[in-house]
Amino acid sequence: MCLSAMEFSSRFNLGVRRSCATIWLWMALVLLLHNSRGVVSDSKYSIGLGSYDITGPAADVNMMGYANTEQIASGIHFRLRARTFIVAEPEGNRVVFVNLDACMGSQLVTIKVIERLKARYGDLYTEKNVAISGIHTHSGPGGYLQYVTYIVTSLGFVRQSFDILVDGIEKSIIQAHENLRPGSIFVSKGQLLDAGVNRSPSAYLYNPAAERSKYKYDVDKEMTLLKFEDDEWGPVGSFNWFATHGTSMSRTNSLISGDNKGAAARFMEDWFEQNGIGSSYSDKFGADGIPWRVSNISPDVHDNHHELLELAAFFQSPPGRPAASIPSVATRVRSALRQDNKPAFVSAFCQSNCGDVSPNVLGAFCTDTGLPCDFNHSTCGGKNELCYGRGPGYPDEFESTRIIGERQFRKAVELFNKASEQLEGKVD
Ligand SMILES: *[C@@H]1O[C@H](CO)[C@@H](O)[C@H](O)[C@H]1NC(C)=O
Repeated sequence: MCLSAMEFSSRFNLGVRRSCATIWLWMALVLLLHNSRGVVSDSKYSIGLGSYDITGPAADVNMMGYANTEQIASGIHFRLRARTFIVAEPEGNRVVFVNLDACMGSQLVTIKVIERLKARYGDLYTEKNVAISGIHTHSGPGGYLQYVTYIVTSLGFVRQSFDILVDGIEKSIIQAHENLRPGSIFVSKGQLLDAGVNRSPSAYLYNPAAERSKYKYDVDKEMTLLKFEDDEWGPVGSFNWFATHGTSMSRTNSLISGDNKGAAARFMEDWFEQNGIGSSYSDKFGADGIPWRVSNISPDVHDNHHELLELAAFFQSPPGRPAASIPSVATRVRSALRQDNKPAFVSAFCQSNCGDVSPNVLGAFCTDTGLPCDFNHSTCGGKNELCYGRGPGYPDEFESTRIIGERQFRKAVELFNKASEQLEGKVD
């Protein structure tokens, strides 16, 4: 529903904007941490992080996002995860934030997750303090929302998609809960200029000049990062908000993928595990040796499905592993500081006000002529079907996914390494 604004009905666009608005609400809530200066001066939060696989059915299920009935899963580019962050005051409120490698959250999924949390933990986690957000990848299994509009192209509700989300979210929250330990949170902000462009620049020009003059760019370029530090183990994770659509993979892609944000999260978790605290990245993410994969959108390629599946094998896909072992209380007390029990680093790349932001930063072009689409109508010879955005790896959408993911990853590492402003105050 999101590659270019005119392609789909306003109903779909409304859905996108509403989910982005919800995310803003939660950004505001979490930032309350920052703005309401409390009496407590030192860290005194408990923080807990978790991560669990939510890849779901990898064949024969329609994908969520483009509303394209022909986009049916037939394999995996890389696996999807639910990443959870819990922040609690020792004797007070707590918040849970879950970031899904999925197109968006779902009210029905949230209701079921909270039912399970209530059965397990009583009133600790409820609809008042659990937020579940999606990265807006357009390459995850669909059919897990209860509203008709969202399950038209999947021809109804898909139980497998739904169950894997509820199970995975619950397990990642359990892990985060089990991992709760004293720690601190730091915030850092910066601009990332080359990972998103306005997908409707002509529409943007209809904003009053006086309003436009307040902003340097026609989309929001700011990344805001929260860094989580365990009092004894040091950094244990981070998440950041940055606005860019999960549409580096095109509407014809059939491999399950976390798109650019899912890729960024994996890059950052791998970076931390391999390099440790505070190091800068090495340039090991180059695509050397990987041949270009040409998107199905390209008119030159008629059926490269088999080729895509073969090439997908270039991407290593280690099986899911828990963020931490969950030892007994006695073991935890005995070996509180043993590195074996150190939780794995969890890094989430969260979506924010992405409504008009495309990761296809080269602009929109006609597949027949190769010329830019009509600026005011996003059409090619009067038709919108031929107008597509191009990512920086064009015509290889896997490469575009990697590049836009890597740009977010590098900015996040920079913000992570320099985050020094500590969050204080109450949690609400
Ligand atoms: C787009 O529309 C505006 C307003 O009608 C017009 O001034 C402008 O010339 C058009 N631009 C192009 C490239 O067609």
